[in-house]
Amino acid sequence: MKHIIWSTGHELILKDIVKAENCDLFDSKGNKYIDLESGVWCTSLGHSNPRINSVFFSQIKKIIHTGFNYCSPIIEKAALKVLEIANLPNGKCEFLCSGSEAVEYCVRLAKTLMKDKKLLAFTDGYFGAYGEASKRGDTHWINYNWHKCSCNNRDIGCIAECEEFSKIPFDQIGVFVFEPGSSSGLVKFPSKKLIDSISTKIKDNNGLLVMNEITTGVGRTGKWFGFQHYDLSPDMIAIGKGIGNGYPVSLAVVSEKVSDLLKNQAFLYAQSHQNDPLGASVVKEVIDTIIDENLIDRCSVLGEKLKSDLNKIKENNSLIKEIRGRGLMIAVEFKKEARYIHAELLKRGFVVAKRSGHEVIRIDPALTVKQMDIDLFLKVFAEIVEEASE
Ligand SMILES: Cc1ncc(COP(=O)(O)O)c(C=O)c1O
Repeated sequence: MKHIIWSTGHELILKDIVKAENCDLFDSKGNKYIDLESGVWCTSLGHSNPRINSVFFSQIKKIIHTGFNYCSPIIEKAALKVLEIANLPNGKCEFLCSGSEAVEYCVRLAKTLMKDKKLLAFTDGYFGAYGEASKRGDTHWINYNWHKCSCNNRDIGCIAECEEFSKIPFDQIGVFVFEPGSSSGLVKFPSKKLIDSISTKIKDNNGLLVMNEITTGVGRTGKWFGFQHYDLSPDMIAIGKGIGNGYPVSLAVVSEKVSDLLKNQAFLYAQSHQNDPLGASVVKEVIDTIIDENLIDRCSVLGEKLKSDLNKIKENNSLIKEIRGRGLMIAVEFKKEARYIHAELLKRGFVVAKRSGHEVIRIDPALTVKQMDIDLFLKVFAEIVEEASE
C-alpha cells in the first residue's frame, strides 16, 4: 500500500481483499469476513451478483462509453425503469458517475431554475465530497438544525411549526434539499410533521423539492426511496451508490414540471461520462433484480427483525444507548466503546461501519444478505457487547 493515498479520516481496515461473493469477503489467505457495510452502502445486491455481472459482461462487448453528443437505446430503457420506480412517468434522467455528482447536478439545476431564491437544507445532511452542495457555505444557503427545534427541546414532540421553525425565512427560499434519514450516516429521522410543513411552504411558494437519495434510495430503507416514508412529491431526485451495485453510476432525475421548465432555460453541464451505456445497463438490471426477487419487501422484513433482535440485546445491556433504523439501514449508538466493539467485530470476521467521531456503528448489509449471516452476527455482537460492559 506504499503507493496509495489514504485520505485523512479513512482507516485501512482490510488491506488484502481479493474476492467477494454476496456478503462474503475473502483475503488472499482464504480468510472470510461477512460484509454488513456493503462497501459504503454501494453493493446493494451483494458482491459479484450473477445477474449484474452477466449484464456487465454482455454490455462491455457492445459499447461502454459514448460521450455527451451520442445516445444508445439502453440509456432510454434504463431511464424509463428509473422514472417508473420514482413515480415520475413524464420526467427525465441524466446518468452520472457518483453520488456527489448527482447531488451537485440537482443543486446547480435547482439554483439555475430558481434564480435568486435560497436553498434550505438541514445542518446534519451530507451532500457529497465536492462542489457547492458539499459546502453549503455561501449566502444562498439556509442551514436549519432540526435537532434544535424549540418543540424538541421542550420534549413535547414535533409540533411542526415551533418558534425556531418560524424563524426560517420561507419567503426567500425556493428549494429544499432533503436527505431523508441518513443524516450524515447517523440514521436520524426528522418527523413527518416537520417535513410536511416545510414541503407545504416550499410548494406554496412554487419552489422545488430536491431529494438526496444517495444512501436512502434503491430499497435500502424498505421502500424504493427514503422520501416515500413522507408525503412528498419531489421535483428532483439524486440517486447513487446502490443503483450501481458497486459500479460508479448515479443519476439526476427530474419531474415533468422541471423538464418543462428546462425547455425555456439553458442549463450548462459537461463532463466526459454523461449517459454512458455501461452504467445505464447496470442501473436497469439492478432495478429488474430488485423487482424480480422482491427485495424491497425482504429488506423491510429483515430490517424489522434485525432491529427487534438488537433491541433484545439492548434490554440486557446498558452500554447500548439507542437502536435506530429503517429497512436495512441501522445504527447502533453506544454510551461508549463503539471503537472497541467495531474492532472486535472485525477480528471475529464481521465488517460493519464505524461513524468516526461518534459512538455509533452502522449495519447496512446488501438486500440479499442471508438471514444465517445476520444470526451469526447477532450472536457475536451480543458476546462482544457483554464483554465490553464488564
Ligand atoms: C447522503 C449522501 N449524499 C451524497 C454522498 C456522496 O456520494 P458519493 O460518495 O458516491 O460521491 C454520500 C456518500 O456517502 C451520502 O451519504
